[in-house]
Amino acid sequence: MIRCPRGTRDFLPDEMERRRHYEGILRDVAHTFGFREIGTPIFEEAELFIIRSGPNILDELYGFKDKGDRELALRPELTAPAIRLFVNGMSNHPKPIKVFYFGQCFRYERPQSGRYREFFQFGAEIIGSATPETDAEAIALAVSMIRGLGLTDYRVRIGHIGILRQRLVDAGVGKDDMAEILRKLDKKSYDEAEPLLEDAGVSDADIADIFAMTDGTDGIGILAGIAGEAGDHLRSVLSCLRDMGVRDVEVDLGVVRGLDYYTGIVFEAEAPALGAEKQICGGGSYTLSELFGGEKVFSTGFAIGFDRILLALEKEGAVYEADGIGAYVIPASAEMRTRATEVTALLRAAGIPTDTDIMGRKLAKAMKSASDSGARCAVIVGAKESEDDAVTVRDMVSGAQTVVGIADLADFIRRP
Ligand code: HAM
Repeated sequence: MIRCPRGTRDFLPDEMERRRHYEGILRDVAHTFGFREIGTPIFEEAELFIIRSGPNILDELYGFKDKGDRELALRPELTAPAIRLFVNGMSNHPKPIKVFYFGQCFRYERPQSGRYREFFQFGAEIIGSATPETDAEAIALAVSMIRGLGLTDYRVRIGHIGILRQRLVDAGVGKDDMAEILRKLDKKSYDEAEPLLEDAGVSDADIADIFAMTDGTDGIGILAGIAGEAGDHLRSVLSCLRDMGVRDVEVDLGVVRGLDYYTGIVFEAEAPALGAEKQICGGGSYTLSELFGGEKVFSTGFAIGFDRILLALEKEGAVYEADGIGAYVIPASAEMRTRATEVTALLRAAGIPTDTDIMGRKLAKAMKSASDSGARCAVIVGAKESEDDAVTVRDMVSGAQTVVGIADLADFIRRP
Protein backbone atom coordinates (compact mmCIF):
# COMPACT_ATOMS: atom_id res chain seq x y z
CA MET A 1 0.00 0.00 0.00
CA ILE A 2 1.42 3.40 -0.93
CA ARG A 3 1.17 5.91 1.89
CA CYS A 4 1.73 9.67 1.97
CA PRO A 5 5.40 10.64 2.40
CA ARG A 6 6.97 10.74 5.87
CA GLY A 7 6.17 13.97 7.70
CA THR A 8 3.09 14.73 5.55
CA ARG A 9 -0.57 14.06 6.30
CA ASP A 10 -3.87 13.46 4.56
CA PHE A 11 -6.90 15.27 5.91
CA LEU A 12 -10.21 13.40 5.86
CA PRO A 13 -13.43 15.39 5.37
CA ASP A 14 -14.20 15.92 9.11
CA GLU A 15 -10.67 17.17 9.76
CA MET A 16 -10.65 19.28 6.62
CA GLU A 17 -13.91 20.92 7.66
CA ARG A 18 -12.46 21.68 11.09
CA ARG A 19 -9.33 23.16 9.53
CA ARG A 20 -11.35 25.35 7.15
CA HIS A 21 -13.46 26.55 10.07
CA TYR A 22 -10.41 27.73 12.03
CA GLU A 23 -8.72 29.10 8.93
CA GLY A 24 -11.88 31.17 8.38
CA ILE A 25 -11.60 32.64 11.87
CA LEU A 26 -7.97 33.67 11.24
CA ARG A 27 -8.93 35.18 7.89
CA ASP A 28 -11.76 37.19 9.52
CA VAL A 29 -9.46 38.52 12.25
CA ALA A 30 -6.85 39.54 9.63
CA HIS A 31 -9.56 41.41 7.71
CA THR A 32 -10.71 43.25 10.83
CA PHE A 33 -7.14 44.58 11.15
CA GLY A 34 -7.17 45.80 7.54
CA PHE A 35 -4.90 43.13 6.07
CA ARG A 36 -5.45 41.69 2.56
CA GLU A 37 -4.52 38.26 1.31
CA ILE A 38 -1.70 37.40 -1.08
CA GLY A 39 -0.73 34.14 -2.77
CA THR A 40 2.72 33.02 -3.92
CA PRO A 41 4.02 29.81 -5.55
CA ILE A 42 4.69 26.69 -3.53
CA PHE A 43 8.21 26.58 -5.03
CA GLU A 44 10.62 29.42 -5.64
CA GLU A 45 14.17 29.99 -6.84
CA ALA A 46 16.22 28.33 -4.10
CA GLU A 47 18.32 31.47 -3.79
CA LEU A 48 15.38 33.34 -2.29
CA PHE A 49 15.74 31.27 0.85
CA ILE A 50 19.50 30.83 0.76
CA ILE A 51 20.30 34.57 0.85
CA ARG A 52 19.31 35.33 4.44
CA SER A 53 17.29 32.67 6.16
CA GLY A 54 20.14 31.17 8.15
CA PRO A 55 21.61 27.70 8.55
CA ASN A 56 18.56 26.09 10.18
CA ILE A 57 16.40 26.74 7.15
CA LEU A 58 19.16 25.75 4.73
CA ASP A 59 19.66 22.35 6.35
CA GLU A 60 15.95 21.73 6.06
CA LEU A 61 15.36 23.01 2.54
CA TYR A 62 13.59 20.77 0.03
CA GLY A 63 15.72 21.83 -2.95
CA PHE A 64 15.69 20.35 -6.44
CA LYS A 65 16.72 21.06 -10.01
CA ASP A 66 13.99 21.27 -12.63
CA LYS A 67 14.30 20.06 -16.24
CA GLY A 68 15.66 23.45 -17.24
CA ASP A 69 18.48 23.06 -14.69
CA ARG A 70 17.04 25.75 -12.41
CA GLU A 71 17.76 25.44 -8.69
CA LEU A 72 14.35 25.53 -7.02
CA ALA A 73 13.08 24.88 -3.52
CA LEU A 74 9.75 24.20 -1.89
CA ARG A 75 9.05 27.19 0.34
CA PRO A 76 10.08 26.60 3.98
CA GLU A 77 8.27 29.78 5.04
CA LEU A 78 6.42 32.67 3.45
CA THR A 79 8.18 35.85 4.52
CA ALA A 80 10.85 35.76 1.80
CA PRO A 81 8.20 35.01 -0.89
CA ALA A 82 5.98 37.82 0.45
CA ILE A 83 8.85 40.29 0.23
CA ARG A 84 9.79 39.03 -3.26
CA LEU A 85 6.16 39.63 -4.27
CA PHE A 86 6.40 43.14 -2.81
CA VAL A 87 9.61 43.89 -4.75
CA ASN A 88 8.20 42.44 -7.99
CA GLY A 89 4.72 43.90 -7.96
CA MET A 90 3.77 46.03 -4.97
CA SER A 91 6.69 48.35 -4.32
CA ASN A 92 4.74 51.33 -5.68
CA HIS A 93 1.69 50.67 -3.54
CA PRO A 94 1.01 53.13 -0.71
CA LYS A 95 2.80 52.18 2.51
CA PRO A 96 2.35 50.51 4.81
CA ILE A 97 1.36 47.42 2.88
CA LYS A 98 -0.55 45.01 5.12
CA VAL A 99 -0.84 41.50 3.73
CA PHE A 100 -1.59 38.05 5.06
CA TYR A 101 -1.17 34.54 3.67
CA PHE A 102 -2.14 30.99 4.41
CA GLY A 103 -0.38 28.04 2.88
CA GLN A 104 1.78 25.02 3.24
CA CYS A 105 5.51 25.13 3.93
CA PHE A 106 8.08 22.38 3.66
CA ARG A 107 11.03 21.66 5.92
CA TYR A 108 13.05 18.49 5.95
CA GLU A 109 12.80 17.95 9.71
CA ARG A 110 12.64 14.91 11.95
CA PRO A 111 8.88 14.40 12.14
CA GLN A 112 7.16 14.16 15.52
CA SER A 113 3.96 15.41 17.09
CA GLY A 114 3.58 19.05 16.04
CA ARG A 115 6.55 18.91 13.70
CA TYR A 116 5.96 17.95 10.09
CA ARG A 117 7.73 18.09 6.78
CA GLU A 118 4.66 19.68 5.25
CA PHE A 119 2.90 22.10 7.57
CA PHE A 120 0.71 25.18 7.27
CA GLN A 121 1.42 28.74 8.25
CA PHE A 122 -1.02 31.61 8.63
CA GLY A 123 1.08 34.74 8.60
CA ALA A 124 1.00 38.47 8.07
CA GLU A 125 3.51 41.15 7.07
CA ILE A 126 3.40 44.92 7.41
CA ILE A 127 5.78 46.20 4.72
CA GLY A 128 7.32 49.65 4.55
CA SER A 129 7.06 50.95 8.09
CA ALA A 130 9.38 50.81 11.08
CA THR A 131 7.46 52.59 13.85
CA PRO A 132 6.68 51.05 17.25
CA GLU A 133 3.02 51.22 16.18
CA THR A 134 3.86 48.89 13.27
CA ASP A 135 5.37 46.29 15.56
CA ALA A 136 2.48 46.65 18.01
CA GLU A 137 -0.03 46.22 15.18
CA ALA A 138 1.63 42.94 14.12
CA ILE A 139 1.81 41.61 17.67
CA ALA A 140 -1.78 42.67 18.42
CA LEU A 141 -2.96 40.87 15.28
CA ALA A 142 -1.11 37.70 16.30
CA VAL A 143 -2.58 37.82 19.81
CA SER A 144 -6.08 38.54 18.47
CA MET A 145 -5.80 35.54 16.17
CA ILE A 146 -4.73 33.25 19.01
CA ARG A 147 -7.57 34.56 21.18
CA GLY A 148 -10.01 34.46 18.27
CA LEU A 149 -9.44 30.74 17.88
CA GLY A 150 -10.36 30.34 21.53
CA LEU A 151 -6.96 29.25 22.89
CA THR A 152 -6.65 30.25 26.53
CA ASP A 153 -3.31 28.85 27.74
CA TYR A 154 -0.62 30.67 25.79
CA ARG A 155 2.37 32.93 26.46
CA VAL A 156 3.67 35.72 24.27
CA ARG A 157 7.29 36.80 24.80
CA ILE A 158 8.74 39.90 23.17
CA GLY A 159 12.40 40.85 22.87
CA HIS A 160 14.59 43.06 20.73
CA ILE A 161 17.41 41.42 18.86
CA GLY A 162 19.26 44.76 18.72
CA ILE A 163 19.43 44.97 22.52
CA LEU A 164 20.91 41.51 22.90
CA ARG A 165 23.34 41.92 20.00
CA GLN A 166 24.57 45.23 21.43
CA ARG A 167 25.03 43.68 24.87
CA LEU A 168 27.14 40.91 23.31
CA VAL A 169 29.21 43.41 21.29
CA ASP A 170 29.79 45.50 24.43
CA ALA A 171 30.96 42.33 26.20
CA GLY A 172 33.50 41.71 23.44
CA VAL A 173 31.77 39.14 21.19
CA GLY A 174 32.98 39.51 17.61
CA LYS A 175 30.99 39.09 14.39
CA ASP A 176 32.17 35.52 13.75
CA ASP A 177 31.01 34.16 17.12
CA MET A 178 27.76 36.11 17.27
CA ALA A 179 25.35 33.79 15.42
CA GLU A 180 26.35 30.62 17.29
CA ILE A 181 26.16 32.31 20.70
CA LEU A 182 22.78 33.82 19.86
CA ARG A 183 21.48 30.39 18.90
CA LYS A 184 22.56 28.91 22.24
CA LEU A 185 21.02 31.80 24.15
CA ASP A 186 17.79 31.41 22.14
CA LYS A 187 17.52 27.82 23.33
CA LYS A 188 18.59 28.93 26.82
CA SER A 189 21.37 26.33 26.54
CA TYR A 190 23.61 28.14 29.01
CA ASP A 191 25.96 25.16 29.49
CA GLU A 192 26.80 25.34 25.81
CA ALA A 193 26.81 29.15 25.61
CA GLU A 194 29.27 29.58 28.49
CA PRO A 195 32.39 28.06 26.84
CA LEU A 196 31.61 29.93 23.61
CA LEU A 197 31.38 33.23 25.50
CA GLU A 198 34.59 32.44 27.40
CA ASP A 199 36.38 31.65 24.14
CA ALA A 200 35.15 34.96 22.76
CA GLY A 201 36.88 36.68 25.70
CA VAL A 202 33.78 37.66 27.66
CA SER A 203 34.36 38.19 31.40
CA ASP A 204 32.62 36.05 34.05
CA ALA A 205 30.68 39.09 35.29
CA ASP A 206 29.43 39.86 31.77
CA ILE A 207 28.50 36.22 31.20
CA ALA A 208 26.42 36.22 34.39
CA ASP A 209 24.80 39.47 33.34
CA ILE A 210 24.02 38.18 29.81
CA PHE A 211 22.48 35.01 31.24
CA ALA A 212 20.33 37.03 33.65
CA MET A 213 19.24 39.26 30.77
CA THR A 214 18.15 36.34 28.61
CA ASP A 215 16.60 33.92 31.08
CA GLY A 216 13.18 35.51 30.73
CA THR A 217 12.67 36.43 34.38
CA ASP A 218 12.09 40.10 35.20
CA GLY A 219 12.26 41.18 31.56
CA ILE A 220 10.35 44.38 32.30
CA GLY A 221 12.77 45.26 35.12
CA ILE A 222 15.83 44.63 32.94
CA LEU A 223 14.32 46.59 30.05
CA ALA A 224 13.78 49.57 32.40
CA GLY A 225 17.55 49.79 32.87
CA ILE A 226 18.40 49.72 29.15
CA ALA A 227 19.16 53.10 27.61
CA GLY A 228 19.26 53.84 23.88
CA GLU A 229 17.08 53.65 20.82
CA ALA A 230 16.33 49.91 20.87
CA GLY A 231 15.22 50.03 24.53
CA ASP A 232 13.04 53.09 23.83
CA HIS A 233 11.53 51.36 20.81
CA LEU A 234 10.59 48.24 22.76
CA ARG A 235 9.11 50.34 25.59
CA SER A 236 7.00 52.22 23.01
CA VAL A 237 5.80 48.94 21.47
CA LEU A 238 4.67 47.76 24.91
CA SER A 239 2.91 51.05 25.54
CA CYS A 240 1.07 50.84 22.16
CA LEU A 241 0.06 47.27 22.97
CA ARG A 242 -1.39 48.38 26.29
CA ASP A 243 -3.39 51.07 24.46
CA MET A 244 -4.72 48.33 22.17
CA GLY A 245 -5.80 46.25 25.15
CA VAL A 246 -3.02 43.69 24.71
CA ARG A 247 -1.58 43.33 28.19
CA ASP A 248 -0.81 39.64 28.45
CA VAL A 249 2.65 39.85 26.90
CA GLU A 250 5.99 39.27 28.61
CA VAL A 251 9.36 40.89 27.92
CA ASP A 252 12.11 38.35 27.32
CA LEU A 253 15.31 39.83 25.93
CA GLY A 254 16.52 36.29 25.27
CA VAL A 255 14.14 35.77 22.31
CA VAL A 256 16.41 35.36 19.28
CA ARG A 257 14.40 33.37 16.68
CA GLY A 258 15.79 30.75 14.33
CA LEU A 259 15.79 32.85 11.16
CA ASP A 260 18.64 35.25 10.46
CA TYR A 261 16.77 38.18 8.94
CA TYR A 262 15.43 39.89 12.07
CA THR A 263 16.82 43.30 12.96
CA GLY A 264 14.53 44.72 15.65
CA ILE A 265 11.76 43.38 17.82
CA VAL A 266 11.31 39.61 17.89
CA PHE A 267 8.43 37.73 19.44
CA GLU A 268 7.17 34.23 19.98
CA ALA A 269 3.99 32.67 21.28
CA GLU A 270 3.87 29.27 22.84
CA ALA A 271 1.20 26.90 24.09
CA PRO A 272 2.79 25.17 27.12
CA ALA A 273 0.41 22.19 26.76
CA LEU A 274 2.23 21.16 23.58
CA GLY A 275 5.48 20.21 25.34
CA ALA A 276 8.57 20.09 23.12
CA GLU A 277 6.99 21.64 20.00
CA LYS A 278 5.15 24.35 21.89
CA GLN A 279 5.97 27.35 19.71
CA ILE A 280 2.77 28.30 17.94
CA CYS A 281 3.82 31.63 16.48
CA GLY A 282 7.00 33.54 15.72
CA GLY A 283 7.82 36.88 14.18
CA GLY A 284 9.64 40.15 14.32
CA SER A 285 10.90 43.11 12.30
CA TYR A 286 13.38 42.72 9.50
CA THR A 287 14.63 44.00 6.15
CA LEU A 288 14.87 41.66 3.17
CA SER A 289 13.71 43.65 0.13
CA GLU A 290 17.17 45.08 -0.63
CA LEU A 291 18.51 41.53 -0.95
CA PHE A 292 15.92 40.72 -3.60
CA GLY A 293 16.70 43.72 -5.82
CA GLY A 294 14.33 46.25 -4.30
CA GLU A 295 14.80 49.36 -2.17
CA LYS A 296 15.40 48.74 1.50
CA VAL A 297 12.20 48.86 3.48
CA PHE A 298 11.52 47.86 7.06
CA SER A 299 8.84 45.32 7.74
CA THR A 300 7.32 43.42 10.62
CA GLY A 301 5.49 40.16 10.46
CA PHE A 302 4.77 36.81 12.02
CA ALA A 303 3.51 33.36 11.19
CA ILE A 304 1.24 31.15 13.22
CA GLY A 305 1.95 27.43 13.00
CA PHE A 306 -1.58 26.45 12.00
CA ASP A 307 -1.17 22.71 12.70
CA ARG A 308 0.32 23.36 16.11
CA ILE A 309 -2.30 25.82 17.21
CA LEU A 310 -5.00 23.31 16.23
CA LEU A 311 -3.22 20.68 18.32
CA ALA A 312 -3.16 23.13 21.24
CA LEU A 313 -6.89 23.78 20.87
CA GLU A 314 -7.53 20.05 20.86
CA LYS A 315 -5.48 19.69 24.05
CA GLU A 316 -7.67 22.35 25.66
CA GLY A 317 -10.73 20.30 24.76
CA ALA A 318 -12.10 22.59 22.06
CA VAL A 319 -14.61 20.64 19.99
CA TYR A 320 -15.65 21.61 16.54
CA GLU A 321 -19.13 20.49 15.57
CA ALA A 322 -19.32 19.95 11.84
CA ASP A 323 -22.29 21.68 10.21
CA GLY A 324 -23.37 18.58 8.32
CA ILE A 325 -25.68 18.75 5.35
CA GLY A 326 -29.17 20.22 5.49
CA ALA A 327 -31.20 17.56 3.71
CA TYR A 328 -31.04 14.09 2.21
CA VAL A 329 -33.62 13.46 -0.48
CA ILE A 330 -35.08 9.97 -0.89
CA PRO A 331 -37.53 8.74 -3.51
CA ALA A 332 -40.17 6.53 -1.79
CA SER A 333 -40.25 4.28 -4.87
CA ALA A 334 -38.39 3.86 -8.17
CA GLU A 335 -41.16 5.83 -9.96
CA MET A 336 -40.44 8.89 -7.80
CA ARG A 337 -36.74 9.04 -8.70
CA THR A 338 -37.08 11.81 -11.29
CA ARG A 339 -39.20 13.91 -8.94
CA ALA A 340 -36.60 13.36 -6.15
CA THR A 341 -33.86 14.57 -8.48
CA GLU A 342 -35.89 17.72 -9.20
CA VAL A 343 -36.45 18.33 -5.47
CA THR A 344 -32.70 17.88 -4.84
CA ALA A 345 -31.86 20.40 -7.56
CA LEU A 346 -34.40 22.84 -6.13
CA LEU A 347 -32.95 22.66 -2.61
CA ARG A 348 -29.39 23.02 -3.90
CA ALA A 349 -30.42 26.06 -5.96
CA ALA A 350 -31.85 27.52 -2.73
CA GLY A 351 -28.39 27.14 -1.16
CA ILE A 352 -29.21 24.22 1.16
CA PRO A 353 -26.45 21.60 1.28
CA THR A 354 -28.36 18.60 -0.04
CA ASP A 355 -27.45 15.03 -0.85
CA THR A 356 -29.48 12.25 -2.43
CA ASP A 357 -29.24 8.56 -3.18
CA ILE A 358 -27.35 7.87 -6.40
CA MET A 359 -27.02 4.12 -5.91
CA GLY A 360 -30.62 3.09 -6.56
CA ARG A 361 -31.23 2.08 -2.93
CA LYS A 362 -34.66 1.12 -1.64
CA LEU A 363 -36.38 3.29 0.99
CA ALA A 364 -35.06 1.57 4.15
CA LYS A 365 -31.44 1.50 2.95
CA ALA A 366 -31.68 5.05 1.67
CA MET A 367 -32.95 6.14 5.13
CA LYS A 368 -29.82 4.55 6.60
CA SER A 369 -27.69 6.55 4.10
CA ALA A 370 -29.54 9.71 5.17
CA SER A 371 -28.70 8.95 8.78
CA ASP A 372 -25.03 8.20 7.94
CA SER A 373 -24.78 11.45 6.00
CA GLY A 374 -25.44 13.47 9.15
CA ALA A 375 -28.26 15.35 7.38
CA ARG A 376 -30.59 17.30 9.66
CA CYS A 377 -33.62 15.99 7.79
CA ALA A 378 -34.65 13.42 5.21
CA VAL A 379 -36.95 14.60 2.45
CA ILE A 380 -39.07 11.65 1.34
CA VAL A 381 -40.61 12.08 -2.08
CA GLY A 382 -43.76 9.90 -2.16
CA ALA A 383 -46.38 9.51 -4.88
CA LYS A 384 -49.34 10.58 -2.74
CA GLU A 385 -47.79 13.83 -1.43
CA SER A 386 -46.46 14.63 -4.89
CA GLU A 387 -49.99 14.84 -6.20
CA ASP A 388 -50.40 17.86 -3.89
CA ASP A 389 -46.94 19.18 -4.79
CA ALA A 390 -45.65 18.25 -1.34
CA VAL A 391 -43.05 15.98 0.30
CA THR A 392 -42.58 14.43 3.75
CA VAL A 393 -39.80 15.94 5.84
CA ARG A 394 -38.43 13.76 8.61
CA ASP A 395 -36.42 15.40 11.39
CA MET A 396 -33.44 13.07 11.81
CA VAL A 397 -33.02 13.94 15.50
CA SER A 398 -36.61 13.83 16.81
CA GLY A 399 -38.01 11.52 14.15
CA ALA A 400 -41.02 13.86 13.69
CA GLN A 401 -42.51 13.83 10.18
CA THR A 402 -44.24 16.79 8.52
CA VAL A 403 -45.84 17.10 5.11
CA VAL A 404 -44.51 20.30 3.52
CA GLY A 405 -45.46 21.97 0.25
CA ILE A 406 -42.60 22.27 -2.27
CA ALA A 407 -43.00 26.07 -2.32
CA ASP A 408 -42.26 26.22 1.43
CA LEU A 409 -39.70 23.42 1.55
CA ALA A 410 -36.46 25.45 1.53
CA ASP A 411 -37.73 27.85 4.23
CA PHE A 412 -38.98 24.94 6.32
CA ILE A 413 -35.57 23.21 6.21
CA ARG A 414 -33.69 26.42 6.89
CA ARG A 415 -35.63 27.02 10.11
CA PRO A 416 -33.51 26.00 13.12
P1 HAM B 1 9.17 30.21 12.18
O1 HAM B 1 9.30 30.43 13.65
O2 HAM B 1 10.24 29.47 11.51
O3 HAM B 1 8.99 31.66 11.54
O4 HAM B 1 7.80 29.49 11.88
C1 HAM B 1 6.59 30.03 12.37
C2 HAM B 1 5.77 28.95 13.03
O5 HAM B 1 5.57 27.85 12.13
C3 HAM B 1 6.44 28.31 14.24
O6 HAM B 1 6.22 29.09 15.39
C4 HAM B 1 5.73 26.98 14.32
O7 HAM B 1 4.51 27.09 15.02
C5 HAM B 1 5.43 26.66 12.87
N1 HAM B 1 6.36 25.63 12.36
C6 HAM B 1 7.65 25.80 12.01
N2 HAM B 1 8.17 24.62 11.58
C7 HAM B 1 7.19 23.70 11.69
C8 HAM B 1 7.08 22.29 11.40
N3 HAM B 1 8.10 21.60 10.90
N4 HAM B 1 5.90 21.66 11.64
C9 HAM B 1 4.84 22.34 12.14
N5 HAM B 1 4.88 23.67 12.41
C10 HAM B 1 6.03 24.34 12.19
C11 HAM B 1 8.80 31.87 10.21
O8 HAM B 1 8.60 31.01 9.40
C12 HAM B 1 8.81 33.34 9.83
N6 HAM B 1 8.61 33.43 8.37
C13 HAM B 1 7.78 34.13 10.59
C14 HAM B 1 7.77 35.57 10.21
C15 HAM B 1 6.87 36.19 9.42
N7 HAM B 1 8.66 36.47 10.56
C16 HAM B 1 8.36 37.64 10.01
N8 HAM B 1 7.29 37.48 9.29
